[in-house]
Amino acid sequence: MKKILITGGAGFIGSHVVRLFVNKYADYQVYNLDKLTYAGNLENLTDVEQKSNYHFVLGDITNESFVFELFQKEQFDGVIHLAAESHVDRSITDPNEFVVTNVLGTVNLLNAARTLWKGKEEGKRFYHISTDEVYGTLGEEGMFTEETSYDPHSPYSASKASSDHFVRAYGDTYGLPVIISNCSNNYGPNQFPEKLIPLFINNIRYNKPLPVYGKGVNVRDWLYVEDHAAAIDVIYHNGPNGETFNIGGHNEWKNIDLIRVLCKVMDDKLGRETGTSEKLITYVTDRAGHDLRYAIDSSKLQRELGWKPSLQFEEGIEKTVEWYLSNQKWLDGVTSGNYQKYYEKMYGSR
Ligand code: NAD
Ligand code: TYD
Repeated sequence: MKKILITGGAGFIGSHVVRLFVNKYADYQVYNLDKLTYAGNLENLTDVEQKSNYHFVLGDITNESFVFELFQKEQFDGVIHLAAESHVDRSITDPNEFVVTNVLGTVNLLNAARTLWKGKEEGKRFYHISTDEVYGTLGEEGMFTEETSYDPHSPYSASKASSDHFVRAYGDTYGLPVIISNCSNNYGPNQFPEKLIPLFINNIRYNKPLPVYGKGVNVRDWLYVEDHAAAIDVIYHNGPNGETFNIGGHNEWKNIDLIRVLCKVMDDKLGRETGTSEKLITYVTDRAGHDLRYAIDSSKLQRELGWKPSLQFEEGIEKTVEWYLSNQKWLDGVTSGNYQKYYEKMYGSR
């Protein structure tokens, strides 16, 4: 019997990781620790919430004594740490929140793990989920490898880079069994509609303008969220301590090209004439410090642990659009704020 703590499990990627672990490992007890910020939504997990190996813990990783007491009480065997402030645009308007959650929150978890696992590190694992944005930006050529130097440009990526450094430092200094992965942009069901793809799907639904930053020439490398969750499973179980793995799908898209594909798929699915949604494209002021291009070399993960992405982008984007269109109640709940009442309904008042 293993007890695993997954932080940020009510968020976009975390909910897919929780679902995978709860369903695949009936002999694990999975604890989802989440503060339920605007990005945390327990409706993402209605299909697993009744399972006996799933436990939800409402709490804040920035609360040092709470984190320590939780570790003391539950005696976790492993941690998969996803809780974070994750949106670059929000980090530009409120950087401090990112420092507190992403850096201090991570250090609180590291401190609890190192104290309670001291002398009992064998079989334990602290797995930190990070982003390719820590590597900064690429020009036209090349890819990020695990050896690429850190060069973050946004307050978000700077806070993630800092947390990665703390995780490695705790491995080196205290012998904590740590592992890190850095993944490219995710897309798929349950993503909060502030990020590019779900925001644009929602805007197209309501014929609202599609705000393309700058000239739309920035390039991102997109991975279907379930493929990220599958990589996390493989790395958690088979990656050697102290290692870093890059995760990505070799799937680079210039923003404007991706948006055109999305518009076409939306026109098809909504029965609108081809070209209707493209008319909503509106070029707006560029994001400050906007990284030009991200591209991940995930050959280490593929070679050493045998992971590979399962979906082609065309298939993934169709699945994604279909999910949002058949879950319009979810999308409406998230955009209206109603999803925040779900906790009270399920668990009573906070
Ligand atoms: P998200 O914003 O959808 O979810 C974050 C979750 O963390 C939410 O459920 C939120 O309530 C919770 N949380 C925030 N602050 C907390 C706190 N103080 N205490 C406890 N819980 C808290 O994020 P996401 O897109 O699912 O990303 C998850 C992780 O993966 C992050 O660490 C992010 O940096 C990393 N990542 C994301 C992407 C991506 O494309 N979304 C790519 C690579 C890496
Ligand atoms: P986003 O989904 O915010 O992810 P990240 O900034 O972490 O890569 O943005 C993806 C790309 O889309 C990025 O280059 C910024 C751009 N973008 C827009 O052009 N318009 C938008 O409204 C948003 C949210 C993003």
